[in-house]
Amino acid sequence: MIRVENLVKTYGKIVACNNVSCRFEEKKVTVILGGSGSGKSTLLRQITGLEKPDSGSVFFDGMDLTRATKKTLYEKRKKMGMLFQGSALFNYLDIYENIAFPLREHTRIADNVIKNIVTMKLEMVGLRGTEHLMPSQLSGGMMKRVGLARAIVMDPKVIFYDEPTSGLDPISTGVIGKLIKDLNTKLGITSVVVSHDITSSFKIADKIIILYYGDIIAQGTVAEIQNSTDERVVQFITGSPEGPIAFTRSDTSYIDALLTDNEKAT
Ligand SMILES: Nc1ncnc2c1ncn2[C@@H]1O[C@H](COP(=O)(O)OP(=O)(O)OP(=O)(O)O)[C@@H](O)[C@H]1O
Ligand SMILES: [Mg+2]
Repeated sequence: MIRVENLVKTYGKIVACNNVSCRFEEKKVTVILGGSGSGKSTLLRQITGLEKPDSGSVFFDGMDLTRATKKTLYEKRKKMGMLFQGSALFNYLDIYENIAFPLREHTRIADNVIKNIVTMKLEMVGLRGTEHLMPSQLSGGMMKRVGLARAIVMDPKVIFYDEPTSGLDPISTGVIGKLIKDLNTKLGITSVVVSHDITSSFKIADKIIILYYGDIIAQGTVAEIQNSTDERVVQFITGSPEGPIAFTRSDTSYIDALLTDNEKAT
């Protein structure tokens, strides 16, 4: 359903996507794994048309989004739901208005129908009755669920989740994982999940893609990834500090910048 071909995205000297090619199968859960800075969010932004890649193609519904007109892109994007890293709720709007926002923005649906839709979506994420709370009154896990309710409010064909479980306790992580899986199986929604949580990814993924500084170093089923002999994959999934994956040059200089001269001398 989504096909990425030879995608390149650079920011100055940083190659965030280095000639990435992959597919996201219809009605399946694909998890993109990778360390911090490996290009996961960048890849999502290119696929969802939030940014234009330097080169390459993103085929969605049989059309190359990188060459689509603004109007076509806008239409196609209505079929995509997005749960942003950090939820990205509007602080000045209550939960109800946060979830209703895409409907008000993209449709002319009447207020009473909007009310029914918002209630139903809140119910789906287990937050019925929270309509009039403000985002600041919610816990991190609840905010993610409100973000999820907003992501599904337009009944998308595909949902992109950027780190849906980061910063959550194990039980909330399980709840979100189950929600993602349920939306996928019950509504047949194609799901693309960005994560660095190996355990919950292995539970929900039909397919896993591992990114390593802009390159795909592995893709396959959970079993295939678990049985991989690639040292970088093994190190990543076991979380070992020893192995081929090391701090990049930029990371080292970043840390260097944080140290005082005294600390550097010791
Ligand atoms: N708008 C931008 N301008 C400049 N550099 C950027 C921009 N967005 C991303 N980068 C760089 O591209 C690389 C990939 O970043 P990206 O946010 O995609 O990583 P990530 O895998 O999502 O990391 P994390 O797990 O920390 O969210 C990083 O080196 C980052 O500094
Ligand atoms: Mg990210």
